[in-house]
Order: sequence, then C-alpha cells, then structure tokens
Amino acid sequence: LSAKSYSTFALDTQLAELIELGSLAELKAYQPQTIPLLLGEGSNSIFLSDQNQTVLRYLAKSRTLLSEDEQQVQLHIEAGDNWHQLVSWTVAQGWWGLENLSLIPGSVGAAPVQNIGAYGAELADCCDYVDFFHWQNRDVQRLRKSDCGFGYRDSIFKTALAGQGVIVAVGLTLKKQGQPKLGYKGLEHLNQHSCVAEVAQAVIAVRQSKLPDPAVLPNCGSFFKNPVVSRPVFEAIQHRYPAMPFYPQADGLIKLAAGWLIEQVGLKGQRIGDVGCYEKQALVLVNFGKGTAAELQQMIALIQQKVATEFAVQLEPEVRLIGQ
Ligand code: EPU
Repeated sequence: LSAKSYSTFALDTQLAELIELGSLAELKAYQPQTIPLLLGEGSNSIFLSDQNQTVLRYLAKSRTLLSEDEQQVQLHIEAGDNWHQLVSWTVAQGWWGLENLSLIPGSVGAAPVQNIGAYGAELADCCDYVDFFHWQNRDVQRLRKSDCGFGYRDSIFKTALAGQGVIVAVGLTLKKQGQPKLGYKGLEHLNQHSCVAEVAQAVIAVRQSKLPDPAVLPNCGSFFKNPVVSRPVFEAIQHRYPAMPFYPQADGLIKLAAGWLIEQVGLKGQRIGDVGCYEKQALVLVNFGKGTAAELQQMIALIQQKVATEFAVQLEPEVRLIGQ
C-alpha cells in the first residue's frame, strides 16, 4: 500500500496495514496487538520510510449543536470531519470564530494536536474541550481547554498524550456577533463592518496566492516552525538585517519568520532532485512529483545548516516526520 495517497507530500513509501474505523463503537471494539500509528488526512505527516506499524484512521464525522442562545453556539464535532468543510459550514451559518482558519488542510481531530493557527487566530481561541480515547483504559476522557497545554503549534497531544490514544471529538464555542480579526497584512482591505463570509473569502484568497494546493503540487504547508528567540539573539540579527520581520510574544521572546530566514540564505526556489523550496513561500517544501525521502532529508539538512550558519538559529520541523 503506497503512502502516496495518505500524505499530501506524496512520497512513494509503503504502509504495511491501514485500518479505518467509522464510529466510537468500532473504536471501542478494536483490540490492536500493538498501538497503531494515528493518521488524519495526512496533510502534516510524511512517511520517510516503509512502515511496519499499523496505521489507523478514525473517520467518525457527526456535528452536534449542543446549545444555542442569542450570543453563541456550542458545537460537538467528531474528529473525522474535514476541517475546511466544518469552517465553511460555520461561516455559512454566520457564526464567528473559525473564519481566519479557512482552507487549512486536514481533519478536525488533527486540529488540536498542533493547535492549528493562521492569520492571527488559532484553534485554542474557540476550543472548549477535546475528547480523548485512551488505549490504556479504553475510555473517553474530556480534557478542558486549560488541560490541553495549547501553545504555538503545540499541545499535550504532542507530548504527554502522544501515542496514548485517539482524539475522537472537539468542542467549540462560536459567536453570533463577531469582530473581524484583521491584524494580518493582506486582510487590511476589510473593515470592522465586514461580515464573517467576507473575512473567510479574504483569508482563502491570501492562502491561494501564497500556498501551493497539495492536490496540484504535493506539500504539507509550513515545513518548519517559526523560531522563537531571546531578545539578545533577536537584536544581534536585527542589527545586521534591520528589515527583518519579527513578532514580539507576550512572554518577552521574539518570534522570527522562518520563511524570511530561508529566503535570505538563498534557498527560495531551489531544489534537490524533485524536492523544492517553494518559489512563492520559502517555508513550504514541495514535491515536484518523484521526490524521495533522501532528497527531502538533504533539503531539510541544507536549510537547517545554512540558516544556523548565517543566523545562529536552529529551525525545527513543524511537519510530523515518521520513520527517520
Ligand atoms: N517571508 C519572506 N519570504 C518567504 C516567506 C515569508 O520574506 O519566502 C516573510 C513574509 O513576507 C512575512 C513573514 O516572512 O513578512 C511571514 O510570512 P507569512 O505571513 O507568509 O507567514 P509564515 O510565518 O511563513 C505562518 C504559519 C502559517 C500561516 C501563516 C499565516 C507557521 C509555521 N506558519 O507562516 O501556517 O498560514 O503564518 O498566519 O507558523 C502551516 O502551519 O502549515 C501554515 C501554513
């Protein structure tokens, strides 16, 4: 079974076994010999080598309106739903909260794992809880937002709970009257009176102008996390590069733009074999068709080494690399 159809980076490595479960009852009845590897839609996972471990996809996808009043709605969404289809549905209802997260590829269940974020919003802003099925006691635990350890592209599902179970549903609160979040450049043609559908449309247009469609040019979105550095490290770089973009964080640290760093070291648009650094957004690595795991690993190493040499900053993959 080729991993090509199960990762949007489309490397041609092999999966030994793939199991798809369509309901909580099926998940509870499933008794694996060894803990399987969980996969959503494969838009942030790359199989670098052939896999012996069973790959499991959880596909239950119901949407439940738990409560509604004049101000807000509370939703319970099962993990197998497609994220963008969920966003489009909430936007069509006129509900605020997910519009800036339009067009992010992947499943609802994957969204909390790395606390997906874009254009000044992140999942944690609207998330009430995550329901997590534990392999150990075979029961579903509800984690409130405060228990999820949400951070920048981070959560407890990547750390203490990694490999421990399956995210089966996400609880969300959305607002009936909202304020557009327009801080990101590219959205400034909108204003405080723009409706939620206009915000979603603008976000979709920005994404389509910068990010390659995985169905056309296989990729997994941003390949590295934006590095967060101390003020002295930031100032040393800014001294040499006064035009560098940067984003001060609440804790006093400074987030840098990995795509900008990669462009400065001359790698934007470069390729190794069939793996390339996307010409319109250097943070996105793409597979031109016959890219291999070896070419990808060479490209990762080249980017990390050149950025470390020039800026003394270590870039860490944001994409989940399996089997390196
Ligand atoms: N930049 C360059 N050259 C490049 C790419 C970017 O100079 O080749 C500069 C831009 O001009 C801008 C800055 O770097 O000043 C930041 O770029 P951009 O706004 O495109 O966003 P990003 O930091 O590269 C992050 C997220 C994206 C998210 C966008 C928009 C991460 C790792 N990536 O990218 O998320 O959509 O912001 O909010 O945080 C993803 O996680 O897969 C993803 C696409």
